[in-house]
Amino acid sequence: MSPSETQHPIGIFDSGLGGLSVFRLLPDLLPAERFVYVADSGRAPYGPRSNAEIIAFSEQIVEYLVEVENCKAIVIACNTATAAAAKVLRKRNPTIPIVGMEPAVKPAAQATVTGKVGVMATAGTFGSEKYAELMSQYGRDIEVFEDPCVGLVSLIEEGELKSVRLSAKLETIVPPMIEAGVDTIVLGCTHFPLVEEAIAEITGKLVTLVNPAPAVARQLVRVLEAQNLLADAGDSILKHRNHSVMTSGNMERLKRVLTEVFDPETHKRLLVSAYTFDTD
Ligand code: DGL
Repeated sequence: MSPSETQHPIGIFDSGLGGLSVFRLLPDLLPAERFVYVADSGRAPYGPRSNAEIIAFSEQIVEYLVEVENCKAIVIACNTATAAAAKVLRKRNPTIPIVGMEPAVKPAAQATVTGKVGVMATAGTFGSEKYAELMSQYGRDIEVFEDPCVGLVSLIEEGELKSVRLSAKLETIVPPMIEAGVDTIVLGCTHFPLVEEAIAEITGKLVTLVNPAPAVARQLVRVLEAQNLLADAGDSILKHRNHSVMTSGNMERLKRVLTEVFDPETHKRLLVSAYTFDTD
């Protein structure tokens, strides 16, 4: 990769706002990098959709990030899209590193004392081959309580990060897990760390919440280092770069959520615009 190519941006996408739980960690970790985030909120949630649809949407977004935005690497900041589309995306873009995510069953299995783990994820993730593989590798010696959290992603997409409606929804999901004896809950959808505080209000200190976003952020750094793709941090012009945040959904809602999710300094450097996709 030539020095100028290392200055190309890193693309991140999710079905919507969830991937912001990964993106918000990256500007501090990689201050010389520029990021382009696509929130496909106009077509969220992906969870109940078919594999074929999720693959088609993901291919479309990655094509945009690679062909139009010239991204040098991609982060699939979505468990559901990773489970359905990561293999296909890597095959179609063999020269672009693609970092995906998976529900953190492994660290949860290592952390639990009661041997009982709750997993909050989407129906798409639970139904995936990838999840079945994870469970057969790390879930054999633990008891797992799964909840597809119907309606939770949509509430978060509506910008409800702290509302009474959100708490009422979480009350239908989290207490049954606690009653079942779990001491660890996997936040297996990137939307859920955005409401981690509201979840922790219900669990108190009884339960450890496992958010895979920091591990994914570190994995991105490792991949960029290994492939000599890091932007030159010595060049001060590159520091404090502006980042692009695009949505196929409601822009005002995205802007509101960005003010809640990002620190004020980074927030000033986020340029919001529309992401439009072909419908044929
Ligand atoms: N944020 C996504 C995930 O990590 C999916 C949410 C959805 O669109 O259903 O699984």
